[in-house]
Amino acid sequence: MTAYQSRSSAGPAYETFLRDCPEYRATAVLDELRSREFSRLDAERQIYLDYTGGGLYAASQIRRHNDFLLLRVLGNPHSASPTSRLATDLLEKCRRHVLAFFDASPEEYAVVFTANASQALKLVGESYPFESEDTFLLTFDNHNSVNGIREFDRVRGARTVYIPVAPPDLRVEDAVVDRFLESARPGRNNLFAYPAQSNFSGVQHPLEWIGRAQARGWDVLLDAAAFVPTNRLDLSRWHPDYVALSFYKMFGYPTGVGALIARRPALEKLHRPWFAGGTITVASVQADRYYLASGPTAFEDGTPDYLNIPAVDIGLDFLESIGIDLIHRRVACLTGWLIESLLALRHSSGRPLVRLYGPAGTEGRGGALAMNFHDREGRFIDHTVIGEQAARRNISLRTGCFCNPGAGEVALGISEGEMLACFGRSPGRMEYEDLRRCIDGKSSGAVRVSFGLVSNFDDANAMVEFARELLE
Ligand SMILES: Cc1ncc(COP(=O)(O)O)c(C=O)c1O
Repeated sequence: MTAYQSRSSAGPAYETFLRDCPEYRATAVLDELRSREFSRLDAERQIYLDYTGGGLYAASQIRRHNDFLLLRVLGNPHSASPTSRLATDLLEKCRRHVLAFFDASPEEYAVVFTANASQALKLVGESYPFESEDTFLLTFDNHNSVNGIREFDRVRGARTVYIPVAPPDLRVEDAVVDRFLESARPGRNNLFAYPAQSNFSGVQHPLEWIGRAQARGWDVLLDAAAFVPTNRLDLSRWHPDYVALSFYKMFGYPTGVGALIARRPALEKLHRPWFAGGTITVASVQADRYYLASGPTAFEDGTPDYLNIPAVDIGLDFLESIGIDLIHRRVACLTGWLIESLLALRHSSGRPLVRLYGPAGTEGRGGALAMNFHDREGRFIDHTVIGEQAARRNISLRTGCFCNPGAGEVALGISEGEMLACFGRSPGRMEYEDLRRCIDGKSSGAVRVSFGLVSNFDDANAMVEFARELLE
């Protein structure tokens, strides 16, 4: 343990924290894990608070993958040679493991390996059979990789409908969702997309929406990228048509591999707009025809990342050896304490230092907190300044709008008119700096802190100590 660590996790704040969240003690195995597998964090005195940006890998994941690569001979998959067959077998083994991890029946679901969650979302967007009269329905609170699907439906004449989120919690009431869901057009293609956990506010939108939407004729695309690193997604209980995720967010390594987990009939519904090496059974130049392969193969363009996909298997083993519920419990404790501690900080003027965007409790939310800092007169302190000051203290947090402009605009009180005026002023090109200047007097972004796999009290306390220094 570093001197810094022992200082904060032995102090009175830690005692209060334990009193408020006694179940934290039951997660002590994660402290051992951190010193054994993630010692580089404390050796480098890094306060890592950006798990929603990217997870961290354990030393043993790298060793296992390294040993595997040094021992085995792998060839490009999907051929009859022994090295190719080994690569193919390992891909299939990993597909089965992904399904088992999420309790998904192989009869019901298939796994398509992608480069990341964004590519999984794009696969749905470009292949969903949108036509005029069809609808793409989505919440304001969505990552840009979901928002971008609207460009596919637009060129095919379908309509895009957004469901607003309401401040201050940035949730949508069930009754409001139901009203929008009623607008499904019978016999048409209706796609509804939302995040299981917001990467802006940490809000966990109800998984109950999945069944309610399907009962009204919607196909449901669940963006699970920010949810699955610290929450159980049980696909034997919830049955979204499409699920998108990135593995590096779950266990840090490898980057460059994600998945689209799709219900088999929902996968059949998708029509690829092109074909590529690996996605067809037969293609002819002279006959100008091709036949797409069936199942996941039709969606994996070119050579899959067959050296790194076995590292996903290793990462899943690693998470299973800990248990996602244990991680979830620890993250909930830290989140509750950090919210309370930050909201309690006040300037001598009586004004609060921190304005939190999203729920101020732990119910129905995950471990990502978006906020802005304010001076003693109540003026916001630019989020980029906070980012720079945090970096000087070795604190890794994230600033900006986190690729989630819908939640950001609502949280920051930026109206449609203001955004249209800014876009109108820069018809050719617009940089983020131009937007910051245009949204005068309001913050154009926020600060995000997020917990994950080996977060501990010292990380949370370091954030509070940093915030306290910003008073006055
Ligand atoms: C909710 C959510 N969806 C999608 C993405 C996109 O993930 P990737 O950049 O790995 O494609 C992210 C990344 O932060 C996210 O948080």
